Amino acid sequence: MHKLALSGSGYHLPVSPPPTAPGSPDPSRASSRTRRERYAPPSSHYLDEHKREHLTPAIGLRFEREFQLKDVLALPEGDERREATFEELAYLISLHGVCAFPAQDLSPEDLERLALALGRASGAPADSDLHIHPTAALGEDGRPKVGTISNKADSRGARINFKDERSELASQGIHTDISFERRPARYSMLRMHTLPPTGGDTLFYSSYAHHDKLSAPMRAMLSGLRARHSGAMFREQARRHGFDLHLGPRGAPDNVDDSFEASHPVIRTNAVTGFNTLFVNQCFTERIEGVTFDESRALLDYLFKLQAQSHDAQVRYRWSEGDLCIWDNSACLHCATFDYDEERSGDRTVFVGEAPAFDAERGRSRREALASVV
Ligand SMILES: [Fe+2]
Repeated sequence: MHKLALSGSGYHLPVSPPPTAPGSPDPSRASSRTRRERYAPPSSHYLDEHKREHLTPAIGLRFEREFQLKDVLALPEGDERREATFEELAYLISLHGVCAFPAQDLSPEDLERLALALGRASGAPADSDLHIHPTAALGEDGRPKVGTISNKADSRGARINFKDERSELASQGIHTDISFERRPARYSMLRMHTLPPTGGDTLFYSSYAHHDKLSAPMRAMLSGLRARHSGAMFREQARRHGFDLHLGPRGAPDNVDDSFEASHPVIRTNAVTGFNTLFVNQCFTERIEGVTFDESRALLDYLFKLQAQSHDAQVRYRWSEGDLCIWDNSACLHCATFDYDEERSGDRTVFVGEAPAFDAERGRSRREALASVV
């Protein structure tokens, strides 16, 4: 088992003090090769030269605006510095849940290249590719276009939205991306280009912290259970507005058909860091399997409450134009805030990862692993 070091690696513990205030996959484009030992931090430290700050103790890291990801993308493929930097970035995103990169000069095409490079560097399966959302329109080449996330529906009435009944509880929309897929998202990235004068913040929630808040007996019970996730609401949206859904493959050969349903472990081990997470969300998780309906309801009610009400495990990110956030969907959840009327739009890509798994042998609590380092 590798060891995390307290200093020098820059991969954990505050680099600066936290604030006190509150299509078909193309195998040639995706490699599963990672040079790291499983779950180990990368051994290179190219990113140490760039200042970054923790957004909160539990989740979030923001780089200085002078760090432009375009410069990393510009390095030739196969270049040692390029490969190592992407490995470091992938590990940092998975470790901190979400990383923010202010004022990034990136086109939608750059974003696609970035998603593929990061996905490869993170050791995702060789057949992982960019996700095509069921409601997405395809480009003329049949490939997914970099999606636009917006509060406005497109001309067909399609929008990546989850509930038709809007709750007054803003936490209603907490989710991890596309957990209704058998192979859900690893990294999602959103570069915001159009913002309202105020409002539209995104909240991110640490799934590591949620796991670590569970007692040992509760962890033991939940680690033997799976839950059913469903995206059936997109079928209803398509039926109502009369558009066709994309039936796949959607970023992985397993992500096909129109069931939009998958069974995943309730406790999931993050494939990059080896830390355990709580992997349910109130948008897509419908039922814990193997227990009674009432037991499932009671357990999910508590777990959703834990996620929504643990504000010590959250960060609320206030966007500026050009900001890019990249998050690991097996390390955090997120939720947009619909408190504005003006347009709010950005470019979005999602890179599909592995089928979620719980590693009973090597999966660890993030908090306990970091606390054990001396
Ligand atoms: Fe999302």
